[in-house]
Amino acid sequence: MAEKLIGDLVKGGGLQHFWLPKGSPQIPRIERAEGMYVWDQAGRSYMDCTSGPVVVNVGHANPRVLAAMREQAEKVCYAYPSGFENEANTELSNLLTDQAGEGFDRAFFVSSGSEAMEKCLEFARLHALAVGQGDRYKLISRHPSYHGSTLGAMGLNGDSLNTAMTPMLRPSIKIPAPLSYRYPDGFDRDSYALHCAQCLDQAIQQAGPETVLAYIMEPVMGLTGGAQYAPDFYYTMVREICDRHGVLLIYDEVISGAGRTGRFMASHWWPTGRPDLMTFAKGIGGGYYPLGGFLAPDHMVEEVVRAGGFHLGHTYKASPLGCAVGLAVLQELIDQDLMHRARVEGQYLRDRLNVLKSSLVILGDVRGIGQLNAIELVADQTSKTRFPATLDVQGELKKLGMAEGLLIYARRSSGGEFGDWLMMTPPLIATRNDIDVLVERLEKVLRAFQDKLTARGFLV
Ligand SMILES: Cc1ncc(COP(=O)(O)O)c(C=O)c1O
Repeated sequence: MAEKLIGDLVKGGGLQHFWLPKGSPQIPRIERAEGMYVWDQAGRSYMDCTSGPVVVNVGHANPRVLAAMREQAEKVCYAYPSGFENEANTELSNLLTDQAGEGFDRAFFVSSGSEAMEKCLEFARLHALAVGQGDRYKLISRHPSYHGSTLGAMGLNGDSLNTAMTPMLRPSIKIPAPLSYRYPDGFDRDSYALHCAQCLDQAIQQAGPETVLAYIMEPVMGLTGGAQYAPDFYYTMVREICDRHGVLLIYDEVISGAGRTGRFMASHWWPTGRPDLMTFAKGIGGGYYPLGGFLAPDHMVEEVVRAGGFHLGHTYKASPLGCAVGLAVLQELIDQDLMHRARVEGQYLRDRLNVLKSSLVILGDVRGIGQLNAIELVADQTSKTRFPATLDVQGELKKLGMAEGLLIYARRSSGGEFGDWLMMTPPLIATRNDIDVLVERLEKVLRAFQDKLTARGFLV
C-alpha cells in the first residue's frame, strides 16, 4: 500500500517517482513553452488547450511578465511584510481592487488557492468575533465542489476524492450544487437551481441561523463540475438568503477569476449576487509565480483591525517577486484586452464544439462561459449514460491527445457520479486560428476514442 502511494522514492530519478505508482508509464519531460504551446525533450510540440490546470491565462513565456520578473528579482525577491512594505504589493493591490470594483477595497496575498481559502475563512471568523457574532462558525458549501487540498479547504470540498482524510476534517454542511446537465429526474435546469437555492435557506435554518458564518461557492464550477453554472436568478436568490440570515457569501474565484470567464471576476456577470468576500489564485500568478489571495471590503478589514488585526499569514505572503509577477500578468490581461477576447473566442469555441456534437455520439454536453469551458462525454447522448470507471476515460484521452499534439485535462469527480468531461480552457491569448487548430486536433482525438469504444462494445 505504501509503495503504491509513494512510489519509488528511495531509488528516485525524478519528481514522478515520488507521486506516481511504481510501473506507471513514463511521461514526457518538458523542455520549454511559449504562447499556446509546450515542447518536450524530444522536440515534440503540444498545444496547451487547458492552460496547465487553468493557470496560464496570458500564455507561456509572456515577454512582459518575464521582464517584470527579472527586473524585480534584481531589486529584491523577498521581504517579510511586517518589516517592509513593497512597491509591487501596493501597485498590485491597487490594480486588483480597481478591477474587482466597489466593495473589494483590500487584497491579502498568499501563495495558492488552498491557502487563499484558508485565509479567507479565518478572516471571516475573525470578523464575526470583531462584530460581536462569535457564535457564527458553521460553514455551508456545495456538492460537488472543489476548494483545495489543505485540511481546512478539504472540509469544504464536495467530492469523495480524499476520503482517506475524512477523520481529520471538519466537514462543512453540504447542499447540492445547481448542475446544468445532470440534474435529478423531475427537474429541469431552472427548477433544480431553484431547489438548490431553497436548500441553502433550509440548511441555514436547520443549523441555526445565528451559528452560520458563511456560504461558500464557485460561481462557475471548476474541476468537480466542469464549467457548469446556474441561471441568473440563483445568484440573486443566494445573496438574498445570506442577507436575510446575516450569513457571509464567499465566492471561490480561484479558477473563475483573472479574466477566465471573460470578465475580471466571474461575479461581475451577476451584479445582484455580489459576494462579501472572494478568493483568487491560478490566473493571477499566471503560472509564473504561485500567487493567491482574497478580496474584502474596507469596512470588514477596519472592523477586524480595530478588534486586534489579522495576523494569520504565511511566510511568502505579499512577496515582492510574486506581486511583481501578478502586476505584469494583470497589466497584460488589460492592455491586450484578453477578457474581451475570452468572451468572443470562447463563444466561437463552444459554437464549433456544438457542431462537433451533432456528428459525435459520445459528445453529451458543451458548456461554459468565456474561456472556462468543458465538454462532457457519454455512452449515449439521450440517456446521458456515464462510462464505467474501469474504462479509464481520462487515461485513454490523455494518451490520444498526446499523440495528436494536444494536452488534455480530463476530469471526473466523486467516483464518476457527475460524469466524465474534458476542461476546454485554452489560454486567453487564443486567437481564432488557435481555436481552429484546437478543434481540429480534438476532433481527431474524440473520433479515435469513439472508434475504440465502438470496437469494444462500450457505446449504448
Ligand atoms: C475553485 C478552486 N478553489 C481552490 C483550488 C485550490 O487551489 P490550489 O491548487 O492553488 O491550492 C482550486 C484548484 O484547482 C480550485 O479550482
